[in-house]
Amino acid sequence: MCGIVAYIGPRDAVPYLIEGLRRLEYRGYDSAGVATIDGGQLLLTKRAGRLDNLVQELAEHASPGCVGIGHTRWATHGPATDVNAHPHFGGDHAVAIVHNGVIENFRQIKARLEAEGCVFESATDTEVIAKLIGRCYEDRLAAGPDEHTAGEPVDGWIAPHHRLLADAVQQAVAQLQGTYGLAVLFRDYPDVIIAARLGSPLVVGVGEGEHIIASDASPLAGHTEQIVYLADHQLAVVTADSLRVIDRDQGYVQHQIDVLEMTPDAVALDGYPHYMLKEIYEQPETIRNSMRGRLSVDEATAIFGGLNLTPQQLRRANRILLTACGTSWHAALVGEYMIEEMAQIPVEVEYASELRYRNPPLESNTLLFAITQSGETADTLAALREMKRKGHPTLAICNVVGSSIAQAADGGIYLHAGQEIGVASTKAFTSQCVVLAMLALYFGRMRNLSFDAGMRIIEQLHKLPDQVAQALSTGAAVKEIAAKYAHCNNFLYLGRQYNFPTALEGALKLKEISYIHAEGYPAAEMKHGPIALVDEHTPSVVIIPHGFVYDKVMSNLEEIKARGGPVIAVVCEDDTRVADLADDVIVVPNVEDFLQPIVTIVPLQLLSYHIALLRGCDVDKPRNLAKSVTVE
Ligand code: AGP
Repeated sequence: MCGIVAYIGPRDAVPYLIEGLRRLEYRGYDSAGVATIDGGQLLLTKRAGRLDNLVQELAEHASPGCVGIGHTRWATHGPATDVNAHPHFGGDHAVAIVHNGVIENFRQIKARLEAEGCVFESATDTEVIAKLIGRCYEDRLAAGPDEHTAGEPVDGWIAPHHRLLADAVQQAVAQLQGTYGLAVLFRDYPDVIIAARLGSPLVVGVGEGEHIIASDASPLAGHTEQIVYLADHQLAVVTADSLRVIDRDQGYVQHQIDVLEMTPDAVALDGYPHYMLKEIYEQPETIRNSMRGRLSVDEATAIFGGLNLTPQQLRRANRILLTACGTSWHAALVGEYMIEEMAQIPVEVEYASELRYRNPPLESNTLLFAITQSGETADTLAALREMKRKGHPTLAICNVVGSSIAQAADGGIYLHAGQEIGVASTKAFTSQCVVLAMLALYFGRMRNLSFDAGMRIIEQLHKLPDQVAQALSTGAAVKEIAAKYAHCNNFLYLGRQYNFPTALEGALKLKEISYIHAEGYPAAEMKHGPIALVDEHTPSVVIIPHGFVYDKVMSNLEEIKARGGPVIAVVCEDDTRVADLADDVIVVPNVEDFLQPIVTIVPLQLLSYHIALLRGCDVDKPRNLAKSVTVE
């Protein structure tokens, strides 16, 4: 959702802000704005709609200045209008802020400030924070210097006024309930930006005589390789050449500088028309990266460096709970089948949004895995924290290094799939399934899975990247099929066992980027209701690779044909039966049952992509959706 970029240094801020906001577009937004300080004034430019509207406005009315804040807003409080776009002013235009997150008690604070004479222009919760910081700032100035803000700087501070500004922000955020990532400019102090976070990520890129603050690492790529991840309740005082981090409880803390491994290529299209297509075609490589160094042929098992639990603790686990949202939840379903089959440990899969408020009876040796691409999904983070509070070991299967969920978990496994920018998750899903397969192998080998069986799984995993590449070669055929069905307004997706989650994921992909109504079902459930939807205008995508349920799914396919429904079938390369029945056939390589979802999902990703394109949809930025859902 919303994106933040801020710059302070020797150069004009606006080009940095716009470049950074472009890299954050993938998060989803519906308005954008920037503020800079120039000639003792805060200059504000904001526009509803796409970033290009803002760029056009800035071309007509420049916003100079070597310090600035920028924002892409995904509307929560009030519609997507110029007025509601960030930044917002406080303190009689002495303060400008951008904000990610949601403030739950903004109505109470707004009422209090209005009673004190504050006038609000927008419907946003953010303007309340701006006015509150403005009020705390004015109070702080009126109180005059104290022992902290008079005389020589002490305690790691650069200048007394930095302390004063930080105090004003601290006093304001102490009154907020909810989540925030904030970047704050003070008109009279262009040498500093104050940033603060609670529950909404913020990072600081450390450059040569300059700093970039952002809501994720992508705006930093190519500018610096040094990154500081702010933690909850931390505030940063950022000048061109200094960074001070203050913790709410501990005061001034020495920050840790990590290496940012992201290159500008990670955010480049590399000749592809869309990030989604690029990410679909990256899958052979991203799957390889997820497995790299994690399969031990000597011990016929998987190796994970970051679980932070002893083998004894892991061996004692008698139940595994997998929690996630959306596509990651579909990967969790695949994981359930894999872990139960290979390791014989009971697994439950819970939507994080449900788990966070549920109180299920759980045995003491239950391990929680939170599965998430972004590591920022609010519900998944809350579910993980709730389980941690109850004393269960919590682990994350996560793509974004240093994300909130990666930090909150006791340990975990990174996907190493590289940055995923397309809102529709593709390569993260296949990497999640691969990591879960390795986890199933790992737990299996701790229990009853033999060395030979472990080796067979490893051999299958090693072959997988090439098989996914082969599945990608269906692209041209899938494009033709897409053209045949792009006009349809309803689709059914059907699969069984390992391909039941594939059916759910295929349907989700189609609905989120083409806005077509699509439903996924276990194929045998058809008879219990959905078959009523079958007619000549409703195609069914039937996933029917080889395996022990092949004949059963074949019967379901025949039932659809008997009722005049068109069938697009995903079959294995040596299939001889389905082509006679189905209207269209997509051929993928023959793989072991447990790896089928990783291969069969590939043409379904491509099918969604081509249908969405044919319907004129914005594939990478589908309407109403955000890449990381950081609000409840
Ligand atoms: C996937 O295509 C969706 N955009 C969405 O369902 C996503 O998977 C979900 O919001 C969870 O995100 P996460 O993996 O970053 O936690």
